[in-house]
Amino acid sequence: MCGIMGIVSKKEILPAVIDGLRALEYRGYDSVGVVWQSGEGLRVKRVVGRVDKLAGEMDPAATARSALGHTRWATHGAPTECNAHPHRDPSGRFAVVHNGIIDNYAELKQELLAQGATFSSETDTEVIAHLIARAYKGDLLAAVEEVLPRLVGVYALGVMCADEPELLIGARKGSPLTIGLGDGETMLASDVVPFLSHTRQACYLNDGEVAVLRPEGFEVRKEGKPLTPDIRTIEWSAEDAGREGYEHYMLKEIYEQPKALKTLIDARLSLPEKGLPRIHVPEEDIPDAALDTVKRIVLLAHGTAYHAAMIGRLLIERVARIPCYPEYASDFRYRNPIMEPGTLYVVITQSGETIDTLSALRLVKDTGHPTLALVNVPSSTMAREADYVFPLMAGPEIGVASTKAFTSMVAALYILALRFGIRRGTESEASLRRRAGDLLRVSSRMHEVLLKCDFLKDIALKYKDKEHFLFLGRGAGWPLALEGALKLKEISYIHAEGMNSSEIKHGPLALVDEEMPVLFITLKGERYDRLLSNLNEVKARHGRIIAIVSQDDEDIHQHADEVFRIHDDCGVMNSILCSAPLQLLAYHAAVARGCDVDKPKNLAKSVTVE
Ligand code: F6R
Repeated sequence: MCGIMGIVSKKEILPAVIDGLRALEYRGYDSVGVVWQSGEGLRVKRVVGRVDKLAGEMDPAATARSALGHTRWATHGAPTECNAHPHRDPSGRFAVVHNGIIDNYAELKQELLAQGATFSSETDTEVIAHLIARAYKGDLLAAVEEVLPRLVGVYALGVMCADEPELLIGARKGSPLTIGLGDGETMLASDVVPFLSHTRQACYLNDGEVAVLRPEGFEVRKEGKPLTPDIRTIEWSAEDAGREGYEHYMLKEIYEQPKALKTLIDARLSLPEKGLPRIHVPEEDIPDAALDTVKRIVLLAHGTAYHAAMIGRLLIERVARIPCYPEYASDFRYRNPIMEPGTLYVVITQSGETIDTLSALRLVKDTGHPTLALVNVPSSTMAREADYVFPLMAGPEIGVASTKAFTSMVAALYILALRFGIRRGTESEASLRRRAGDLLRVSSRMHEVLLKCDFLKDIALKYKDKEHFLFLGRGAGWPLALEGALKLKEISYIHAEGMNSSEIKHGPLALVDEEMPVLFITLKGERYDRLLSNLNEVKARHGRIIAIVSQDDEDIHQHADEVFRIHDDCGVMNSILCSAPLQLLAYHAAVARGCDVDKPKNLAKSVTVE
């Protein structure tokens, strides 16, 4: 969490740093600040609130060729102006921005207090500014390299010194940091999105590396020695990362799902006129030979990605007949898990930076088991550290609530399941062809679903003032129910619970009365009869029923108050189609309640602290 953006340039760049912070706001947005080199040393402006507030309060006469900004998601210390970054040492000559947590900061602070230091914030970051100031002997790089070994914890740092105006220093341990190489300017940021309108040439720092940025270029160092930097061309464009006329990123990303699905599925799957479907395997993905040793699959993820993993289990077990276990990565890594030979560990992640998922990946790698990352951000830490990578190809996802990454994760998991199924011959050719056809159809069906989603706005308006919501489903409908509830609570702040509808009579039915809206995912299929009886149990207790149903379901009107129909001819991939109305219900409810859809309170998109 927290976003860092800095530029050192031959030109005036203060507005560009502030724009870059806007692009990073999804990482944290409780306070924001910027430090710049003025003719008379470092100047700082910090505010509680959003980047727009900072921009509005900046001195219009302020200009700079070198500046560092930070948008904060509070860890140590409340979101106040004093605790907002950048932090300076008492002389004001050194400034630091930080993403992460310094675990030994209390000890370091005690040591500094004993030496007479005074502090102006409650943050862990301020100690770093003090330590650098004390280590400085005319060389900022040397001072930073002296201080870093004293810091225990995780960090991405940006550092400036008033005495060396054409220099920015970056350092990374555990939190992401990227360098952008522009024309006569060099940038430092938490991810590539704020660079895209300046440059597509980037270098991703690895743990333990220090970057030395000057207008004409940069150097990367480790343990005091220079390294040859690995400069890559970023695949995303500035347009990919824009809002393109949509009111919110979330809305744009919901409507991008047909395109994202098509890009992924067309790249990975084809169905010749005869014979088995073909899966196309890029070089970075797990090779066929490695598939043959797999006896068991563990899917590691959090949040929305975990819900995709739950659907993935169903797909992999059904098609490939391989036992599959979705796990919360944090729970997995802290319980001393039993790790059996023949297990493939798959991390599922949009950002590729979620700290618990990354730590679980590292734990697995240390034990020598194979790891595969289903990941959306191609340059992320997990994409770089996993043995094999399955890129989700959904393009930048900026809205804090994950939408298109979820449906792409589910499609990717189905492709993985099909790949195993084809290789192992677990199903007949006809069945595998049917499944491939379902997958190849899902993007255009998603497009059709989205065309009629306006109706969800009316439903959202009708129920927006309810305090609670239940989401129920079975099979793939169960993780979808969890996902629908998560979307609603995270952006509209309505309390919502998702559950397997078989659970309703084991307790939660006690909650149901005429005030309780209950959304059922009730597509026709194997468990339809059971779902219908659960739906009637809710109806009998006067619950208000919203049902997502199959296009041709004529009976459901007798049971449900509101009905959303889906052309459900994509087999198990119908789950992808159901997610669009769930996302849009949450979206419209949040807009109607006046919530900030793209930046829900207390959250940040990339959870890089535990
Ligand atoms: C919810 C949401 C989060 C993320 C979770 C994992 O809308 O976005 O629950 O799914 O924080 O993030 P990634 O996929 O980046 O590892």
